[in-house]
Amino acid sequence: MGRFDGRGAIVTGGALGIGGGCARRIAADGGSVLVVDVNEAAGANTVKEIRDAGGKAEFMAGDVSKESTAKEMVEQAVSSFGRLDLLVQNAYAGADNAGSAVEVKPENWHNGMDLLVGALYLGAKYAVPAMEESGADPNFEQPEWTGAGRRHGNPPAQNVGRIVNMSSVHGLHQAPRSLIYNAGKAAVIGLTKQMAIDFGPLGITVNAIAPGHIVTERGDEHWNEVGNDAGFRLFELHYPVRRTGVPEDIANAVGFLCSNEASFITGHVLAVDGGMTIQLQENLVMDSKDYIVANPDLKTHFDSNRGESRF
Ligand SMILES: NC(=O)c1ccc[n+]([C@@H]2O[C@H](COP(=O)([O-])OP(=O)(O)OC[C@H]3O[C@@H](n4cnc5c(N)ncnc54)[C@H](O)[C@@H]3O)[C@@H](O)[C@H]2O)c1
Repeated sequence: MGRFDGRGAIVTGGALGIGGGCARRIAADGGSVLVVDVNEAAGANTVKEIRDAGGKAEFMAGDVSKESTAKEMVEQAVSSFGRLDLLVQNAYAGADNAGSAVEVKPENWHNGMDLLVGALYLGAKYAVPAMEESGADPNFEQPEWTGAGRRHGNPPAQNVGRIVNMSSVHGLHQAPRSLIYNAGKAAVIGLTKQMAIDFGPLGITVNAIAPGHIVTERGDEHWNEVGNDAGFRLFELHYPVRRTGVPEDIANAVGFLCSNEASFITGHVLAVDGGMTIQLQENLVMDSKDYIVANPDLKTHFDSNRGESRF
């Protein structure tokens, strides 16, 4: 039996990249997945891939920063799967987001925040009542409710729902000329903790994941346009595990946080970054020096987005 058998899931931005990996992971473990994305062709592909592998999936086209999409995706999941249990809020499109507070245009700020943060509020607004209505995982047996501190009242709701919000290492540490993305991803962490408090009593956990660099179809294209081998290697050397990530690395963490094994974990932000963010930065920078001196022609995907160097 799969750990998500009989459960209904929504993955936003599930057509490509990390979201595609999450949709495939949940479906491989028995869940029925609604992939919600603006990219219809890629979304249809991912759904076909899942179905060809014997999984259950549907596609819905929609921009998750719109309230109508949030409402419709929850309605569609419930009408197609009979229930809603898991919501993975992952969609993002990075265009027009670079810049400091002086450079960023007000309309880009508002659009960026609507997608990075507003969409997550809207998703939860409609998903939580549907999760409550669906009730606990039918395969979950509530353990006997005895022992210290448990002698009064009914057992609390457990395994009713899971929300996983995609933050970033940019939500933990700040990068130059990245006001919208960094502020948005930090806000995702605050929103996650706040929702965890409101929805914990309902048996719904809310956690965030902070991925390090994950090589996706889209990201890879950008790297290949700008970077070279020496640049790729320098980037990888900044990861204690000496590699960057793949969508499956994030999907595995999402699968765990969505599982019943994770029912006592909520309001947490889990860095899935090969150890990148635990390092003391001054050592890291100094350690890079020899490599950079030996490879003066290295190019990285940062080069196209850096603006004027600070050094
Ligand atoms: N790839 C990384 O290195 C990395 C690192 C940290 C965090 N993240 C976060 O992970 C998430 C996924 O990133 P990714 O690299 O897989 O991106 P991606 O571009 O490969 O995939 C994002 C998906 O979201 C969809 N999308 C974009 N705007 C949408 C909208 N308004 N409504 C619905 N769908 C929309 C896109 O069509 C695409 O299918 C994002 O939240 C991103 O910020 C990515």
